[in-house]
Amino acid sequence: MDKKLFIPVLLGTPRKNRESGNVAHWVCSQMRERADIETQLFDVCDFRLPHDHYGQEIKDQFPEWRDAIVRADGLVIVTPEYNHGYPGSLKSVLDLLLREYVHKAVAFVGVSAGPWGGTRVIEASVPMVRELGLAVTFSDLNFPKVGDKFDDEGNLLDEAYNKRIGDFLDELVWMATTLRWGRENVPSKFHS
Ligand SMILES: Cc1cc2nc3c(=O)[nH]c(=O)nc-3n(C[C@H](O)[C@H](O)[C@H](O)COP(=O)(O)O)c2cc1C
Repeated sequence: MDKKLFIPVLLGTPRKNRESGNVAHWVCSQMRERADIETQLFDVCDFRLPHDHYGQEIKDQFPEWRDAIVRADGLVIVTPEYNHGYPGSLKSVLDLLLREYVHKAVAFVGVSAGPWGGTRVIEASVPMVRELGLAVTFSDLNFPKVGDKFDDEGNLLDEAYNKRIGDFLDELVWMATTLRWGRENVPSKFHS
C-alpha cells in the first residue's frame, strides 16, 4: 500500500472522570505505531454543540471533524455502555455528517464497568452506523470491568490486549483498504 489509511478515533463520552479516555488514548497510541495507519483523536468534549439546532445543517461549524471524515478511510468509535446504549453526545457528533461516511469502515471499542465489555452498546450501535453508510468490522475490542484495566497513569495492565489490538486493527485495515479501492475504482451514486 503506497498511502497510509487515515482512520480517526472518536471518544464518545464527555463524562467527567471517564474511563473510556484511557481506552481511547491507548488505542490511538497503538494505531500510531503502525506503518499503515495515520490517526487523529476526536473527543466529543471538544464539540460545542448548540442546544437549539442539530444535524448536518450545522456541520460547517465543525470544519476539523467534517474535513477529517471527508479524508478518512475509516473510523474507530470508542464508546462506553450507558444503559445498554450509546451516549447521546456520541450520536449528536455522528449526526453532523452523512454522505461523508458512505462506503468507509468503522470499528467499535466497547467500554463498561460490567462484565460484558460494551457488547450491548456495540450491538445497539450497528443499525445506527449502517444508516450512516459505514461498513462495520466484526472484530470488536471490548473492555469489561474497565476500572481494573489501567493504572493511575493510564497504563494498560492486561497484556492480553497486545494481541487483541493487532487482530482488531488488522481487520479494520483490510476493510478500510478494500473500501478505499472500491471508492476509487467502482462508481457509486452514494459516495462522494
Ligand atoms: C448513565 C450511565 C449508564 C451506565 N450504564 C451501564 C450499563 O448499561 N452497563 C455497564 O456495564 N455499565 C454501565 N455504566 C457504567 C459505565 O460502563 C462505566 O462508567 C465505565 O467506566 C465506562 O464509562 P465511562 O467512560 O463514562 O467511565 C453506566 C454509566 C453511566 C454514567
